[in-house]
Amino acid sequence: MTREEAKKRIEELRELINYHNYRYYVLNDPVISDAEYDELFRELVELEKRFPEFITPDSPTQRVGAPIKEGFKPVTHSIPMLSLQDARNEAEIREFDSRTKKFLGLSTREKIEYIVEPKFDGLSCEIVYRNGVIEVASTRGDGIVGEDVTPNVKTIKSVPLRLLKREDLKIPDLIEVRGEVLMSKVDFEKLNRELIAKGEKAFANPRNAASGSLRQLDPSITAKRNLDFIAWGIGLTEGTVVKKQSEILELLDKLGFKTSKPRIVTNNIEEVIEFYREMEKKRDTFIYELDGIVIKVNDLDLWEKLGTTARSPRYMIAAKFTPRQRTTKIVDVVYQVGRTGTITPVAILEPVEIGGVTVSRATLHNFDEVERLGVRIGDKVLVQRAGDVIPEIVTVIKDERTGNEKPIEPPKECPVCGASVVREGAYYKCVNASCPAKLVQAIRHLASRNALDIEGIGERTAALLVEKGLVKSLADILYLQFYDLLKLPGFAEKSVINLLKQIEKSKTVPLDRFIFSLGIPNVGEHTAKILAKQFKTLDNFLNITYEKLLTIKGIGPETAKSIIQFLKEPRNREMIERMIKAGVSPKPIEEPKSVDSPIKGKIFVFTGTLDSMTREEAKKIVESLGGKVSNSVSRNTDYLVVGKDPGSKLQRALSFGIKTLNEQEFLELIGYKK
Ligand code: IVH
Repeated sequence: MTREEAKKRIEELRELINYHNYRYYVLNDPVISDAEYDELFRELVELEKRFPEFITPDSPTQRVGAPIKEGFKPVTHSIPMLSLQDARNEAEIREFDSRTKKFLGLSTREKIEYIVEPKFDGLSCEIVYRNGVIEVASTRGDGIVGEDVTPNVKTIKSVPLRLLKREDLKIPDLIEVRGEVLMSKVDFEKLNRELIAKGEKAFANPRNAASGSLRQLDPSITAKRNLDFIAWGIGLTEGTVVKKQSEILELLDKLGFKTSKPRIVTNNIEEVIEFYREMEKKRDTFIYELDGIVIKVNDLDLWEKLGTTARSPRYMIAAKFTPRQRTTKIVDVVYQVGRTGTITPVAILEPVEIGGVTVSRATLHNFDEVERLGVRIGDKVLVQRAGDVIPEIVTVIKDERTGNEKPIEPPKECPVCGASVVREGAYYKCVNASCPAKLVQAIRHLASRNALDIEGIGERTAALLVEKGLVKSLADILYLQFYDLLKLPGFAEKSVINLLKQIEKSKTVPLDRFIFSLGIPNVGEHTAKILAKQFKTLDNFLNITYEKLLTIKGIGPETAKSIIQFLKEPRNREMIERMIKAGVSPKPIEEPKSVDSPIKGKIFVFTGTLDSMTREEAKKIVESLGGKVSNSVSRNTDYLVVGKDPGSKLQRALSFGIKTLNEQEFLELIGYKK
């Protein structure tokens, strides 16, 4: 290959790689396989190795550069990066509309066109492109001067190193692209787990994590953090004309950026408010933290007329959602004992209302977490409640300590049975095998929907059964008598009859659910299914050996060991024997029937509620047709079935380009008729 040929091929490869990078990271819609992409990349690396004189800083091979030696250099923004005024509710959104009209001399009847975008919570950043090539990227800083973080921003895969070439568009001579650097909620949690495992300090929220990851002197660290960039505006431009904010975002879309979506354009403030409500309802379904929406006057001529105050423009406002974090005080710490004896510290709080719910307890998870937070009784803390997640403590406000705070002592004994405790990793555990707290949780598990499904035994009833001495071992559940139950507070004749019916029904559940109900450590629903398929009958299962278990696909040594340990324990054997005596006779698991069903081998995930059936029913149908159902979306998922009020799985599936089905499409696919 001559130098000329090499130069040409290098250019071609860069163009191709940039394009496929864009398809993958910006559109989430790749058109070649990972292997094909890797091949192009390798070819470019090879050629650049042979002809290093052709390496340029915007080559896709140069995303991760050398460490920054002398700290971040200051960068003065050509146009200051202002901040936004806040609206905290619907009334303040309407006020913004009237205020803007008044300023422009419009009557209340006249309309202004608005564009409304989500407000993702990250850190703002400006990236300058000259003649289509990335030149410098900086943080907002104080709005006038930011920090040069170019090598780090270049590691973000959704940031183009070169603007996308298109037939229908001239690349601007200069464009300063502004947007948000973000870390997803999932990546934030993963990063924190890793940091804690290494004994390092965790981040309080995804925004801080994004900021900390971007402001690293070694870009190879930033590269590992999986940051994203979503563009929402521009600074200075040369060689391009735009008249509206909507055109700015369309231009940025075309140049190869992710832009803030979903967005609406409307001249009706009530529609703006409708969008605000809808996005607040859906905020948990986004992979990024969303703290509000941004309402912008669409026409850029009006921006000129409206101008700015000292700190913020008059033509935009951030409408914030109800905050999910509040400060309060820890008044005490209590301990909860789980099914396996794990003791969880729980903070008792001075009650505060967060997002419409009164919060008076927050989990402290375990003692590593207590140490990480450095939390004490009496501390003022920031508490967070998101969706249906258990409230947790984000940070301790140490500046407000009075000196009277008391350290949180680890439990010296089990708070329920008084037996001694041992520390296992981050957790303290009760050593007493027959601790009533463990039994209560074990009953709850046994009776739960995906186990024996005994409706009517929740936490309260389970606690009553143990407290009144009616249940001393799980098997006792199957021997409960009418008159014993009738004595329980809150139980009338009818409810007792119902409960006994439920118990009778539970004796013939499929084998996998029976195995799952036993609460064997490391045996979840999935493993229970593997075991039931393999062994077919309870008798076979009870006579397994460690060696045989190891030959089963999907069962590792750890799980095998815990199954054998469980079955060897005389107390457990006796419990199962008594269950069988009471009439327990699990059914063999149903094997998928149809051989050429269209969904054979396909992996389904469900989100939201279905009208025509429960999740459990849908799962059974899919499995009977040879498909699989998984709880979480991964790249291997074939279909996401989207019901009413979908959760965050939808966003994740969309980001992987996974096919989604609405309920009707799903029913058609499985050939379901009412
Ligand atoms: S426009 C004058 N649009 O929110 C600043 N900002 O609280 C113009 N943000 O500094 C900002 N999403 O970092 C705009 N769609 C969006 C945004 C957005 C997030 C951030 C941005 C800004 C901060 C203001």
